Amino acid sequence: MNETNSINEALPTSGHSPMYVMHKFFARKQEDVIREYIQTYSNEGDVVFDPFCGSGVMVAEALRLGRKAVGVDINPVAIFITKNTVKKTSSTERIVDEFKQIELEIKQDIEELYQTTCRKCGKIVSAICFTWKNRDLIDVRYECSHHGRLISPVNDVDLDLLKKIEDGAVSEFFDDRRGCRYWYPTNSLYYSDGTPFLKKERFNAINDMFTQRNLVALAKLLTRINEITDSDLKEAFRFAFSSITHLASTMTPVRPSRPFSSAWVQQSYWYVTNNMESNVWKLFERAVIKRQGLIKAKEDLPKDFEDKQEVKKFDELAKREEYAYMLIQSSINDLEEIPEESIDCVITDPPYGHSIQYGELLYMWGSWLQLMENFDEIARGEIVKNPRQEKDDMEYEQMMRKAFRKIFQLLKPGRYCIVTFHNPSLKYRNILFRSVLLSGFEFEKIVYQPPPRASVKSLLQPIGSQRGDYFFRFRKPKKKKKLSYKPIKMNNVEELIVDITRKIIMDRGKPIHHTDIQNALDPILYEELKKSDLLMTFNPEGVERILQKHIGEVFQLVDLDPIRIGNKTFQPKGWWLIDPHLHEKKKE
Ligand SMILES: C[S@@+](CC[C@H](N)C(=O)[O-])C[C@H]1O[C@@H](n2cnc3c(N)ncnc32)[C@H](O)[C@@H]1O
Ligand SMILES: [Zn+2]
Repeated sequence: MNETNSINEALPTSGHSPMYVMHKFFARKQEDVIREYIQTYSNEGDVVFDPFCGSGVMVAEALRLGRKAVGVDINPVAIFITKNTVKKTSSTERIVDEFKQIELEIKQDIEELYQTTCRKCGKIVSAICFTWKNRDLIDVRYECSHHGRLISPVNDVDLDLLKKIEDGAVSEFFDDRRGCRYWYPTNSLYYSDGTPFLKKERFNAINDMFTQRNLVALAKLLTRINEITDSDLKEAFRFAFSSITHLASTMTPVRPSRPFSSAWVQQSYWYVTNNMESNVWKLFERAVIKRQGLIKAKEDLPKDFEDKQEVKKFDELAKREEYAYMLIQSSINDLEEIPEESIDCVITDPPYGHSIQYGELLYMWGSWLQLMENFDEIARGEIVKNPRQEKDDMEYEQMMRKAFRKIFQLLKPGRYCIVTFHNPSLKYRNILFRSVLLSGFEFEKIVYQPPPRASVKSLLQPIGSQRGDYFFRFRKPKKKKKLSYKPIKMNNVEELIVDITRKIIMDRGKPIHHTDIQNALDPILYEELKKSDLLMTFNPEGVERILQKHIGEVFQLVDLDPIRIGNKTFQPKGWWLIDPHLHEKKKE
């Protein structure tokens, strides 16, 4: 930490490294940016704290920089992913040996479930995947050593095999009464009072998301993994296992651009009508030994992570000279393990209103991993907006405020609290801002941080999600002081927004997309409010809505360059001034 050195502009960023791509998570933070923030706002040996640690990027990066780290998350799946991301585990050799052993024992049984023949030479191969349409098997995709990768309509042999599996007539997987010999999760997608998950779509239980074939294949694989005696090794393999479950589900659309690979591309339990059914063994193999697999992830971890000890008590963490970390599965609002004023730096990425339903979405992995016994408690304590959990904006804000009051207490005076936030609406950014400010923090700066590559699509869908992050910098005052704010009125906010937008357009000197206005606006808007200790005590309208009211009077919408996606052309609109010269004069 260097008092004269602060981050006031967006930082360069490149994609995720292997240790982070191993397991899917929703809205994982860009590690290189996080690293810069930790470097700038904490010192070596400091305790860095993330009360909403998710997949653990802040924890891992803090450790990389020689800080001690404390990660808290209410969801056991988040803690599981964090733990497995930072744990150096056993050597590569042990992973390879265990993998070979598993391969020897069960690969053949599993691959037989996907057996087909090359249509060109009759060679028996095991399919990479099948595709389905409206719950009918359509085609089979495989690789023949002579003919390469092929896609063929399914034939009678493929259909017979499927029937055999659906009838429970494969003795390696089913008993005499056609029941699966191995355990798989049947957790229901309803809260305990019978209310359906917001994101369940047409599924009623976890097992509904899988074909019978993939369900039993996963079940057999997991049973074998759970038999591993060395607990570190077992956890590492459970991590690899969990990382393929969604890829083996029916929530994976057929994508013409990637005909042999599956992905879960929606933030819901998406019911796809034209879906993939990927070979579980091939997915698992990839998850362990291929480019984005477990071995690569472990090799990517810095060497000295072997020495990083996980401790269970805060005293132990505090008194250690060398690296250590602590992971706590708890709601920040019930956290008792950490004493007041013992944290040196907070860097966190709290839940964004309703945009990602972490509790519901992590439930699929959690069910396979058998970590969801206390789901009711998780759902109760989760900070989110979700009508199915009876949480509206107000409840969300109350929970956020409570969280930041707690975070304020835990931080040492004079220290920083960096909050990153992703929600595309001003309303939720303002709820966050208000929660942090009213807990006693002083606001210093907002920096907009664009995503690694701005996708063309995201520009066209301004309410989409890939729109980069805001980094809010707050600080706990060195001495206790009473901060007070004056409420600003909605029409004054509106005037301010129109005025700032006008300046943003003038500065760029050309029409700009609404998304770009949003991104540039917040930092200036909050800076302006800060100058006079003003606070938006209400939930503001969306920026676009506000600007629209001034079309014809201040702004006009003009055509930007058309964008082509595939064979479609889109015509984005840009905001421009009615009379730029007039504004130029006004400025002088
Ligand atoms: C936006 S995510 C964090 C993502 C993380 N920065 C990453 O890079 O993966 C927010 C997290 O807050 C957690 N969360 C929600 N309510 C919580 C609570 N009351 N206490 C602690 N964590 C909570 C969610 O489970 C989720 O993992
Ligand atoms: Zn062939």
